Amino acid sequence: MEKQKLIRVFDKQATQYEKKTGDPNQKRWRQHLVSHAKGEVLELAVGAGANFPYYPPGVKVTATDFSKVMLKKAKRAAKYHRIEANCICSDIEEMDFPDHSFDTIVSTLSFCSYDNPLMVLDKIKRWSKPDGQILLLEHGISSNFAVSAAQKALNPLLYRVYGCHHTRNILELIRESGLEINKVEFYWLNTVHLIWAKN
Ligand SMILES: C[S@@+](CC[C@H](N)C(=O)[O-])C[C@H]1O[C@@H](n2cnc3c(N)ncnc32)[C@H](O)[C@@H]1O
Repeated sequence: MEKQKLIRVFDKQATQYEKKTGDPNQKRWRQHLVSHAKGEVLELAVGAGANFPYYPPGVKVTATDFSKVMLKKAKRAAKYHRIEANCICSDIEEMDFPDHSFDTIVSTLSFCSYDNPLMVLDKIKRWSKPDGQILLLEHGISSNFAVSAAQKALNPLLYRVYGCHHTRNILELIRESGLEINKVEFYWLNTVHLIWAKN
């Protein structure tokens, strides 16, 4: 999908994302993962700031998203949860930071939407400090045959409506990027992955 169109697709979903922060499963997963963040944090594709309630005190967050509408909500959430956040409106696929800038890089439910997820993983690898941690909550293709068949069948429609691919093999992408996986947890018939990784 053309980038400006994709941005509009996400702009339209911003209010829904702000409301979704109450989903009990998502709350549990986000807390479980994001509570490990420390130091200088980069959060990719922050959306409406659904992770902000779960950051431990003292972190300094650089939050990016290409949707101005999402970012406006993220700024409001940061203020509400007293998170020190620098919100940057930009396409992560076009952005750059100096090498080894961040202690923690967080991405939740965003690898489904990038044009080139492997390129973003390469950037993460470069931007992470040598002893940094990479915390991911991502959805992708299930290892269950019936579920993956349904995901493949519905993917074109879901991408058009939500800007989100449902058939990406998240673990395969991470392995291909050369990042080292420390721990993975699987949920919802293996469609959701919580991943603790490092350089
Ligand atoms: C499915 S939402 C997830 C939002 C948030 N991370 C969360 O966990 O609720 C995907 C987000 O990625 C953003 N996004 C998608 N592609 C992007 C890109 N190339 N650069 C920056 N943001 C992007 C969208 O605007 C949207 O806010």
